[in-house]
Amino acid sequence: MLDEWGDDLHTPRVSRAHALLLENVHATASELLERAGVSVTRHGAGLDEQGLIEALRALPGTGPLFLGIRSKTKVTAAVMEAVPRLAGIGAFCIGTDQIDLEAARDRGVAAFNAPFSSTRSVAELVTGLVIMLARRIFPRDRAAQLGRWDKSAKGNYEVRGKTLGIVGYGHIGSQVSVLAESLGMHVRYVDIVPKLPMGNANVVNELDELLSQSDFVSLHVPRSEMTRGMIGAGEIAKMKQGAYLINYSRGDVVDLEALRGAIESEHLAGAAVDVYPSEPASAGDSFSSVLQGLDNVILTPHIGGSTAEAQANIGREVGQSLISFLVDGGTTGSVSLPEVEVPQRGQHIRMLNIHRNVPGVLSKINQVIAESGANIVGQRLATSDEVGVLVVDLASDEISETAKALSDAIAALDTTVRHRLL
Ligand code: NAI
Repeated sequence: MLDEWGDDLHTPRVSRAHALLLENVHATASELLERAGVSVTRHGAGLDEQGLIEALRALPGTGPLFLGIRSKTKVTAAVMEAVPRLAGIGAFCIGTDQIDLEAARDRGVAAFNAPFSSTRSVAELVTGLVIMLARRIFPRDRAAQLGRWDKSAKGNYEVRGKTLGIVGYGHIGSQVSVLAESLGMHVRYVDIVPKLPMGNANVVNELDELLSQSDFVSLHVPRSEMTRGMIGAGEIAKMKQGAYLINYSRGDVVDLEALRGAIESEHLAGAAVDVYPSEPASAGDSFSSVLQGLDNVILTPHIGGSTAEAQANIGREVGQSLISFLVDGGTTGSVSLPEVEVPQRGQHIRMLNIHRNVPGVLSKINQVIAESGANIVGQRLATSDEVGVLVVDLASDEISETAKALSDAIAALDTTVRHRLL
């Protein structure tokens, strides 16, 4: 008996899936996917829209397709329209601007990224920067490179006993907290949700309080309406005289003109910045910033998370998300579909139904199941305003023709966007 992909029902579905990995996605991803039984085709470069459509269409087999990209390849609605077999997209990076997420949602395509794989890399570098700023290492390096011996203790400090204020105590902020305490620093933090302190860190209630108490302020908040421009001239004025500001979070969190003014007036003794309101598209492009040419200001080209370890973690994190979606129907971590967390499939028959979230859709699905006489042993649902993701487990240990007929009937409902018997 053949299923909707034209394959034998009893062949494990995962062995019919194919993944196209572009832009030198880390080898950890291919290893994971291949170990799970997915065939993998790799391309070093990114592809334009037409090239991508052709490359996806050229993949062999009839099973679901998965696409892995980094930041260069754009996945447009036209690509998804032209390749209906495309079931999942892995963005092997943090940003997902390169994917039309609404189009993915409307077509039931699960897109995943790796928001937390590089957190350790950022935390380590930020901790190092605290010392680099306190010892004015970069101005002295520049002098030494130019042949000048800038030997002096003026304006140089140990970090032990100083206070680090962390704004945003999430994956990165909390790790910076642990590393800073190991250097003998006092740590204070502020967050909009209650967070348990690591080690001896102390929570403070107000940002202003944190700014006025800290020798170093490090920002680790996400991009949001609340964080856009959260550190402007007023906030910088509340920082201690001679303090340092570190922004390795998002480019629109700090008013850079205000920061420049504070460095020039010597209200702040230095700053380290990795992210900017607008950033060059590619490595090697030219770069300009109002922060250029300032004393004891360290500018880096958005490399906070750029390490070999982070790339390997990203490969594993996104690869695992794609496999979970393919094998178990889970959408945990998806940026296009509502997130449904599922246990491993086990011996049950499992169906994944992605549907338009309209009144009556669940009762229609359950009616079809009830009429088939099948017994539901588990059902998990997650919805957004537009779509629902439903995972149904039916009591049976093998995929039968009855299960196939039932699955076909649900797939044919006018509310179904995408349906798979897993
Ligand atoms: P996360 O989501 O784990 O933590 C963010 C924390 O900020 C959360 O605890 C949240 O409750 C808190 N928060 C949100 N709004 C806040 C506000 N208005 N005031 C105070 N706290 C607030 O995120 P994670 O992984 O720690 O990343 C933090 C930032 O670092 C993100 O913006 C991320 O994009 C950026 N990042 C930068 C990298 C780089 O290369 N420079 C690499 C990786 C992440």
